[in-house]
Amino acid sequence: MNRICEMLEIEVPIIEGGLAYVGNGLLAAAVSNGGGFGQVGSAGRSPESFEREILIAKESTNNSFGVNIPISQHTDYTPYLEIIKKYKNIITAVSVGAGNPKDLIPFIKDNGLKALVLTSTALHSEKAEKLGADIIVCEGFEAGGSNGPSELTTFTLIPQVKRAVSVPIVAAGGIVNGRSMVAAMVLGAEGVQLGTRFVATKECEAHDHFKAAILEAQDDSTTILTRLVKGPIRVLKNEYSQHVQEEERKNPTLEHILPKVRGTFNKLAMFEGDIKGGYASCGQVASLIDELESAETIVKRIAQEARSLLATNFQLSNN
Ligand SMILES: Cc1cc2nc3c(=O)[nH]c(=O)nc-3n(C[C@H](O)[C@H](O)[C@H](O)COP(=O)(O)O)c2cc1C
Repeated sequence: MNRICEMLEIEVPIIEGGLAYVGNGLLAAAVSNGGGFGQVGSAGRSPESFEREILIAKESTNNSFGVNIPISQHTDYTPYLEIIKKYKNIITAVSVGAGNPKDLIPFIKDNGLKALVLTSTALHSEKAEKLGADIIVCEGFEAGGSNGPSELTTFTLIPQVKRAVSVPIVAAGGIVNGRSMVAAMVLGAEGVQLGTRFVATKECEAHDHFKAAILEAQDDSTTILTRLVKGPIRVLKNEYSQHVQEEERKNPTLEHILPKVRGTFNKLAMFEGDIKGGYASCGQVASLIDELESAETIVKRIAQEARSLLATNFQLSNN
């Protein structure tokens, strides 16, 4: 039995990562209907919208799903915790990241839910395990959105985290199909988390312009913002990202750069469709995404691809 499947009450260990602004209930339900684990995002959402999307997810699937709380993206996350408490019998797990999970893990576990903690180094994974994390989601530098400052790639991160902790680990960053899923699992992950792939789906409420930009992306279409001032964010290259990078070169201070990467500019590109006037979080795998499909189909196909690849007899020598 796969430990992730057991803990999250799912069929295949494929998780939809929290998606700021565009992690809606229908998408979470579609991922769960495919046998994976969908999550309703809270970043960029009012508590009312967060609650509404949880209820939409519940109406749209009988399968298990969860929610995501990126700590530092909320000035006050207490109202979201109240909602989690109210719906603790509907959701299975809460994933937390972008901040110290010390206070949130006991809250999650006291409510009978599983705690998934996002990390980007082996040391932080060890700390999260000591704090009571049930699952470590280690995310490499390939990933869309906020990245860890250590900039470790998924390929090097997974085995180091695997060596550091005994709770099951989920790999995130750069995973898009059965091939990358199997690679992550061979490296030591027991499950995978995808973000960018699930944005380019029929159910995701991202703007069509953002989805189209993902479909058109090449292997070098992403870049890093705010590396020097507040930690890296991986986004699509566009006029706005170029502008922010020029400003960072001129004046690399938080006061100068923070107003330029406020959530409103993220929302503008990803949700409102002004794909040139704001910045859109996007992972390096975008170039491997060529079609807008249902998230349910994607989960089923990745699982199928992974199963057949695992049955492949890889040749290590010529005899
Ligand atoms: C558009 C977008 C928004 C994201 N927002 C969040 C978020 O609110 N919370 C979070 O924990 N991670 C967030 N992430 C990271 C994803 O949950 C996931 O870990 C990551 O996308 C995995 O890498 P990939 O993009 O290569 O699939 C976001 C990623 C993207 C692409």
